[in-house]
Amino acid sequence: MSQPPRPRRKGAKPWAGRFRERIHPAVERFTASVHFDRRLAPYDIQGSLAHARMLAKCGVLTRREAEAILGGLRAIQREVERGTFPWDPALEDVHMNIEARLVRKIGPVGGKLHTARSRNDQVALDLRLYLREQIQVLRRQLRDFQDVLLTAARAHQEVILPGYTHLQRAQPVLLAHHLLAYFEMFQRDRERLAGCLERVNVLPLGAGALAGTTFPIDPHFVAELLGFPRIAANSLDAVADRDFAAEFLACAALVMMHCSRLGEELVLWASAEFGFVALPDALATGSSMMPQKKNPDVAELARGKAGRVYGALVGLLTVLKGLPMSYNRDLQEDKEGLFDAADTTQTTLVALTALLTGIRFQPDRMRAAAAGGYLNATDAADYLAAKRLPFRQAHELVGRLVRHCVDRGCPIEALTLEELREFSPLFDRDVFEYLAVEACVARRASPGGTGPAAVRRALQDAARRLKAEW
Ligand code: ARG
Repeated sequence: MSQPPRPRRKGAKPWAGRFRERIHPAVERFTASVHFDRRLAPYDIQGSLAHARMLAKCGVLTRREAEAILGGLRAIQREVERGTFPWDPALEDVHMNIEARLVRKIGPVGGKLHTARSRNDQVALDLRLYLREQIQVLRRQLRDFQDVLLTAARAHQEVILPGYTHLQRAQPVLLAHHLLAYFEMFQRDRERLAGCLERVNVLPLGAGALAGTTFPIDPHFVAELLGFPRIAANSLDAVADRDFAAEFLACAALVMMHCSRLGEELVLWASAEFGFVALPDALATGSSMMPQKKNPDVAELARGKAGRVYGALVGLLTVLKGLPMSYNRDLQEDKEGLFDAADTTQTTLVALTALLTGIRFQPDRMRAAAAGGYLNATDAADYLAAKRLPFRQAHELVGRLVRHCVDRGCPIEALTLEELREFSPLFDRDVFEYLAVEACVARRASPGGTGPAAVRRALQDAARRLKAEW
């Protein structure tokens, strides 16, 4: 004879039926995730609303049952928004907290919500809904940042600074060109996130625990309600897959790598040794001991925080690598790193945007740095090569010329024409004009080069691409 169901104690597990003993407190604490996954509550409710409507449409729930469930879920939604929802760690995770609350509010009919659903497909859905939103936020922030880069580039079209390789002065470039290099990096980041979104945007609900469900469900209807263009093709994969999360973390890691490189450059540029930028007080921080200090902490933290996002990526890949089909509880470990990485990337972008908006470039310092360091040596060799001397010979000749100038402590153009002719009779009066830093920049008219005409085209093209996608 079957026993009547025991009334549920507060905090009793929804899965308690099979168990004789109460859960060990250490196990309860160890397995609980509600202290971090409660963040998924809005998405969990959104998913449940769609699921309940679908169950009613398919005749699994009556209209009245569905109405009661939808009303209860909306009341819970308000509690979550107001911060009055009574989270109970004994109820393990966000899903069981919300379901238990629903039953408490509307009675046993609330227990029908979980028909044809498992927490395994439910959590996969929540995570996809969450990430979809994060991706949109990030893409908007990236765009704002590109906008600031573009504005700064436009404002500094004439400014020349040394371009570096090996952090050694190499050839002169326009500051606008330098800033547009970062524009390209963040453009790729935005494109990557758009690609990632396509794979996030797949509905896993309907997979049940792993094998599908015996109920006559309509996942396409749920997909339509939630704005998913596709539904998962395989139920095992639907509950086991976190590729989309790893892919998002890889995208975020690349964003952070770019932020970090820019951060590193700004740290260098803000130093007395470079002096290429000045930080407004509002965007710098001081030292507790050294009264004179003004530190570029935003740029440093942009560099430093990249580490935690890389950590989240490697952490998730490591969680996934040994998992057999299909859902495994290890997957609960996907969330904290993911949340932290999304938050970190977003706050970094916002801070860097503020920094770059307020930073003051120092064109005089940049121009002075471009005057030293023999940045026109390549052009001197090009000058001779243009006069038909094989470039390899021209390179060697100018190398000797530079060594001579280094010994004398002067730039190439400080030599007289006679002195230059001792190195090569091909040097003529026009060489001095040729070697001027402005002329060196202007000659680099190749597509994507730093010549002012090429940079003007690049600025227009960047503005066009920024507009096109929004
Ligand atoms: N808290 C779990 C997670 O984040 C939800 C799914 C749990 N499923 C289960 N059968 N225990 O992955």
